[in-house]
Amino acid sequence: MTDLIQDLQWRYATKKYTSQTVSEKLVAQIVEAVNLSASSCGLQPYRLFVISNPEVKKQLAEGSFNSQIGESSHLLVFAGMNRITTGYITEYVSMMERQREMEPGALSEFADNLISFFSTQTAEQNAIWSSKQAYIGLGTALIAAAALKVDSTPMEGFDANVFDKVLGLTDKGLHCSVILSLGYRDQANDFLASLKKTRLPITEFSTEIK
Ligand SMILES: Cc1cc2nc3c(=O)[nH]c(=O)nc-3n(C[C@H](O)[C@H](O)[C@H](O)COP(=O)(O)O)c2cc1C
Repeated sequence: MTDLIQDLQWRYATKKYTSQTVSEKLVAQIVEAVNLSASSCGLQPYRLFVISNPEVKKQLAEGSFNSQIGESSHLLVFAGMNRITTGYITEYVSMMERQREMEPGALSEFADNLISFFSTQTAEQNAIWSSKQAYIGLGTALIAAAALKVDSTPMEGFDANVFDKVLGLTDKGLHCSVILSLGYRDQANDFLASLKKTRLPITEFSTEIK
């Protein structure tokens, strides 16, 4: 079995954490992995909030059945953009040109195509699309955390209004898409820690067309 498969067998959606904190070095690697995630058109239309402040975590946990929000070491909030604006696309594509040492405007046709596509979409379509990209980041974070032997819990069980308000997301043109807590499992007190992972047989899950 490869190390990757072993890491993925090891991880589980942790329900109860110890009070041990995750080092900033490990958190930084998980954040970097998320930043390296693929995104449609490469636009990275979401932002990541990395929360370790206990008071802020407590406020965010309000109204949620997930005690992990308040009890974990760090909370990653994946916040999708509400609109994919012309300004955002123009600036992002200029950054691509600079990073690839291209002439300014070298990618203007690419930018124009993106601008005309996103301008035909409704605000709701923009927001759904950016949340989908945020979930790809979530997947990367789950794998990165497992590879670093950091426990984590992906969560949709939170009050989005609370997150938007506490983190001021609406003013930033963002909305909370999904969250991931990070920490270390409380092996003795987490009923899930010793349960076997359940998954479909590969032959049922995956179809080969050769
Ligand atoms: C998008 C998403 C949302 C989830 N929301 C919650 C949640 O709110 N609370 C929770 O305890 N687990 C949540 N989970 C964890 C799943 O229940 C868990 O991943 C699933 O049962 C598979 O188990 P495993 O991750 O331990 O292998 C969520 C998982 C995903 C991917």
